[in-house]
Amino acid sequence: MNRHLISAADLSLDDAVAILDTAEELAHLAERPIPKLPTLRGRTVVNLFYEDSTRTRISFEAAAKRLSADVINFSAKGSSVAKGESLKDTALTLQAMGADAVVVRHSASGAPHRLARWVSGSVINAGDGTHEHPTQALLDAFTMRRRLGGPDGLRVTIVGDILHSRVARSNVWLLRTLGAEVTLVAPPTLLPVAVDGWPCSVSYDFDSVLPASDVVMMLRVQHERMSDAFFPSVREYSRRYGLDGDRMALLPDHAIVMHPGPMNRGVEIAAEVADSPRSTIVEQVTNGVSVRMAVLYLLLSGSREHDGLGEHGVAEKDAEKHAAGNREADKPEAGKRGAGKRRAGERELVAAGGNPSRPRTGARTRGPA
Ligand code: MLT
Repeated sequence: MNRHLISAADLSLDDAVAILDTAEELAHLAERPIPKLPTLRGRTVVNLFYEDSTRTRISFEAAAKRLSADVINFSAKGSSVAKGESLKDTALTLQAMGADAVVVRHSASGAPHRLARWVSGSVINAGDGTHEHPTQALLDAFTMRRRLGGPDGLRVTIVGDILHSRVARSNVWLLRTLGAEVTLVAPPTLLPVAVDGWPCSVSYDFDSVLPASDVVMMLRVQHERMSDAFFPSVREYSRRYGLDGDRMALLPDHAIVMHPGPMNRGVEIAAEVADSPRSTIVEQVTNGVSVRMAVLYLLLSGSREHDGLGEHGVAEKDAEKHAAGNREADKPEAGKRGAGKRRAGERELVAAGGNPSRPRTGARTRGPA
């Protein structure tokens, strides 16, 4: 069993569908009065962020906490990294502290891959340079599935700075696996040289692909990764590759507009588009927590006993058990039961032979690569 999630390209169709199905089950947890499962109690998840991030770090933190894991947030700023410590030495420190999973973001493509050689826990890539951002692609696919079904058969147009975008790369690979048809739209200078080998088509004419798109995913121009001028002016870029109200009107009625954030309003996306009912930008953030919970759950819930990932549907069973706990907690007498007593959901886990302080295990034969 592969313990890590480094690249969307490594995910088989079964892996990807298992993550999306588990995320669907876990999404219902947010509707409960206590949106938490005991599944990863006693496990430690380290967020190791060498690059700035708002939504991804918070999203992983929320996901781990909803599964009752302990979370350690490590930011390169203010740490020994600022004193010159190498990634390897930082990894060995985390290893010594017993991290069960390391969620890593790094400006160097390939850093999570290296890290996976040095730690015994699972490594989850939260964005490495211009390489990949697999959980973003998974949450994007999850959002498409919830809004439109699929992604099998959907026509997805990804627009903007493809050259520097790990989101575009992960989406192209994952959507191909899931059976969607992807078209990239960008100025020639913002497309990778090797794009001919990618499983997608390329267009330079945004307006012509819009009427045949079910999904338009807008990407930010990543100025921080640019050392040259890639287009004459922001204004010209925006005129040719930005999505404004007039362009949005060319989309079929059912089509949705996505953006991984952070957005540059008025450059790649107009405010009227970002705030329109077609926009899924806020939903993507919500869905990110469910998808990251699913990834943590599938990677960590069976690893201690080395018997594979949790059984399909275990998330649902845990959620049901926990809902029983919620119902108990809702009763007025619940508070009188004393601090030392377990909640109903936990008692059921014990009765079923499980240890509530350790994740349940099962016999899933496949999991995220
Ligand atoms: C990323 O980390 O790649 C972001 O989610 C997208 C961006 O920075 O534009």
